[in-house]
Amino acid sequence: MKKIAVFCSGFGSNLQAIINAVKRGGVKADIAFVLTDKVDAPALVRARKAGIPFMYVDPDDFKDRLAYDKYVAGQLKKRNIDFVVLAGFLRIISPYFVRKFKNKIINVHPALLPSFKGVHGIRDAINYGVKVTGVTVHFVEEELDAGPVILQKAVNVRDDDTQDSLAQRIHKVEHMLYPLAVKLLVENRITVKGRKVRIK
Ligand code: GRF
Repeated sequence: MKKIAVFCSGFGSNLQAIINAVKRGGVKADIAFVLTDKVDAPALVRARKAGIPFMYVDPDDFKDRLAYDKYVAGQLKKRNIDFVVLAGFLRIISPYFVRKFKNKIINVHPALLPSFKGVHGIRDAINYGVKVTGVTVHFVEEELDAGPVILQKAVNVRDDDTQDSLAQRIHKVEHMLYPLAVKLLVENRITVKGRKVRIK
């Protein structure tokens, strides 16, 4: 069975959705490792409850991003991790790490990329006044939020939406789409050619 590592900085609802999908048997993956850069990330509690090995790696203990990522890569190697799933991980990944795990790192973004890149995808969509936004699952490349798109799903924006109400609907879609992407990944059903992703 393929081993995945999930990287989280916060709440971990996407981690939870993946844990649940694995428990239900829909996703045949071994969540072998959870890593965080925030000591108080609620995601760690979810990992602990699910019996998944987890680790807090403090960025302040490293001289730069490369040193941090080299350490993390070592941890992944030790555990024979096949894929890295970013789930609300707020650190930018170094080019070193991206190259080492080429097309093996995925991320979920709360907007329809390439619109509304960055950490405020939901707020930015509301402020822009778009009528449709959504969720994107993509491979991670050196440029932020710019890797090949694996899955996307649209979410309509309502006239009376607040950031919170829209976020709720977006997260619901994420919790369906992200485990599906993990399933496709661990079943080797995703191929990438340039920017084009095909799903078998
Ligand atoms: C999600 O909205 C995801 O799209 C973004 O970060 C958020 C993480 O939420 N990348 P959670 O920690 O999984 O609840």
